[in-house]
Amino acid sequence: MSLQRFPGFIDVHVHLRDPGATQKEDFATGTRAAAAGGFTYVVDMPNNPTPTVSLERLAEKEKLADAKAVCGLGFHYGADGSEANLASFPEAAKHPRVFGLKIYLNHTTGEMLIEDISVLRTIFETWPAEKPVLVHAEGVQLAAALSLAHFYDKRLHVCHISQAVEVELVKAAKRKKQVVTAGVCPHHLFLTGEARETHGSQAIMKPPLGEDADKKALWSGLQDGTIDIVETDHAPHTLEEKQGDPPPFGVPGLETAVGLLWKAVHDGDLKAADVPRLLHEAPKRIFNIPDQPDTYVELDPDEPYEINPAAFQSKAKWSPFAGWTAYGKSRTVVVQGKTLVEDGAFVEGTSAK
Ligand code: DOR
Ligand code: ZN
Repeated sequence: MSLQRFPGFIDVHVHLRDPGATQKEDFATGTRAAAAGGFTYVVDMPNNPTPTVSLERLAEKEKLADAKAVCGLGFHYGADGSEANLASFPEAAKHPRVFGLKIYLNHTTGEMLIEDISVLRTIFETWPAEKPVLVHAEGVQLAAALSLAHFYDKRLHVCHISQAVEVELVKAAKRKKQVVTAGVCPHHLFLTGEARETHGSQAIMKPPLGEDADKKALWSGLQDGTIDIVETDHAPHTLEEKQGDPPPFGVPGLETAVGLLWKAVHDGDLKAADVPRLLHEAPKRIFNIPDQPDTYVELDPDEPYEINPAAFQSKAKWSPFAGWTAYGKSRTVVVQGKTLVEDGAFVEGTSAK
């Protein structure tokens, strides 16, 4: 076994559910899940039951994070297009723990969908330019978001790209020198809609799983640089909720992503150097994530292990990847001098840093 040391991995797309849905996850369990999975900095999304669309809600999250988080934790601000929301943009955009503005152009968990083009236009026009606008935008909605970002000179990050046509749209925008980046989730890389037959609601998420042609296009988009980063879209729900009718959208991802990427290296779909590029260097650069001194992960990329959701730190102890062979389990994780994972196990008693 040969352990290698990597900088702490960064996930710019997680839903830690705190406050408002802490039966699913909270900042303590969510950041423990991050560290167990090799991530030392995560950025939380704003679609809480009461969305993070005001400075008050942001301050509330920051306070909870300070009390509970065991690894680096930042936030994306939310857009609802109300006057108060728009008026708060300059301040929110200056906030050192805010890394971007998230806009939902499609329906998903929460109530943040914006379909009105004039509201969308105003949001794009109003957000200050330095930090990226992130969009949940599937298919034709992505074409709309690319146009708005272009017209109003905003940096755009396309979250969880999932369809072959979306890879083509991002490629075309990049060819035209638009400042756009894209992220892909492990579930879209490794699964197709067929997983719904074997895994039922555990394979239901937004954007939905695609077809084989979509999956192939995502891999080639990753290989040719059209897709810049891997993001988990860690979206925990309780098993009971997930078994409901209709089930909520989303899957936990923090404790499977790194092992699945090393599996991709093992399978010849990625090169070893792609893993730290996609999970550290590129997200750090795109979102300007702060340095974390004395922070690292040690793992053996050739060491196989079985994905066992029962052992997750996340409250969501289930996964469509249960039983899969992944590689490179985090053996040691140190965040700013504090050892969170030792010999592959979370160090109990670790509290907020
Ligand atoms: O599957 C998803 N779940 N997609 C999203 O966009 C949101 C997420 C959630 O918050 O549950
Ligand atoms: Zn998401």
